[in-house]
Amino acid sequence: MKTEIIKVSLDSIDILKKGAKLIREGELVAIPTETVYGLGANAYDSEACKRIFEAKGRPGDNPLIVHIQSPEQAEEISVTNSLYYKLAKRFMPGALTIILPKKPIIPDTVTAGLDSVAIRCPENEIARKLIELSERPIAAPSANSSGKPSPTTAKHVFDDLQGKIPLILDGGECRVGVESTVIKITENSIVLLRPGEITVEMLKEVCDNVTVASAVKEELKANEKPLSPGMKYKHYAPKASLYLIDDRYIDFIKFAKDKQENENCAIMCYNEEIELLEKKNLLPVGKREDIKMQTHNLFILLRKADDLGVDTVYAHLPSDEGESLAIYNRMIRACAHHVLGGINGKG
Ligand code: TXA
Ligand code: MG
Repeated sequence: MKTEIIKVSLDSIDILKKGAKLIREGELVAIPTETVYGLGANAYDSEACKRIFEAKGRPGDNPLIVHIQSPEQAEEISVTNSLYYKLAKRFMPGALTIILPKKPIIPDTVTAGLDSVAIRCPENEIARKLIELSERPIAAPSANSSGKPSPTTAKHVFDDLQGKIPLILDGGECRVGVESTVIKITENSIVLLRPGEITVEMLKEVCDNVTVASAVKEELKANEKPLSPGMKYKHYAPKASLYLIDDRYIDFIKFAKDKQENENCAIMCYNEEIELLEKKNLLPVGKREDIKMQTHNLFILLRKADDLGVDTVYAHLPSDEGESLAIYNRMIRACAHHVLGGINGKG
């Protein structure tokens, strides 16, 4: 199959109609969102959704997120509650996915047989326009092949899924750079399953009872049942061994310079550190305090690290607080919890 990449804006109505037609016909279309690119299919079409799992090489027990055009469209597919609407008022459209009890119209393929469904109304207007023109919700996981970092450009999608899908809608670089915040809710409680742009602190402004699932920061125990199937999969790990340096205990520059001299390595450093290090295989993540930029760059740089053909990659251990928790969660999994320095350092 030939994979077409077409640049889109909100004005490209003919291209969006072409995408919507493919969705209605049961085909897959890669779509830009504000977080990462999604691999979309008609959420009501079990066969089409099966194709998503095939194209990505995704395990069938890892459910998909259903994207809706407006918060109210959740009524079609799920059993909502008052907290859902409070959250929707504050954060939708936006980078928040909410898990609610599902209605029968959503096929088991989408929810991997669970009795709940993940719902998201994206901020990206191209994505919402496509849902509107498709006249049905769109099921879409991140548009990477399973095991690779989520794609934040159309080229990333092409690199992974070329020949497997007919169309990639190119809406430019994704604004956020990591996937949406995923929460499971009841009438009066929130459990955070995956951190993203919408932080714990922001959620607490809407609901007093917010807890963070232990797997967000820690490894799943051997016989622990994950709250979200996605938690149990080994997520992206670079080809090189990735180590996180706890710079409260280790002098990062001294350490990195020594590695640059003695190993075939890449260094993910803060912009302020560029001048202090050798230029070869340097991957600046953004300024030390600029968490938004570091988030935006994260998957772009992890993909670059793979292309460099190095044996090891060293990066700062990110903070696990506030906006930085989303970076911490992705990095700690990418390095398989290999942290150097500090009391938790495992070497
Ligand atoms: O930003 C995003 O969320 C992107 C864009 C495309 O919207 N999508 C995305 O989808 O990251 P995906 O499939 O890569 O991640 C969805 C996560 C998985 O970890 C999955 O296990 C979890 O959400 N999930 C989906 N439905 C669930 C459910 N009913 N119960 C628990 N976890 C669920
Ligand atoms: Mg994914």
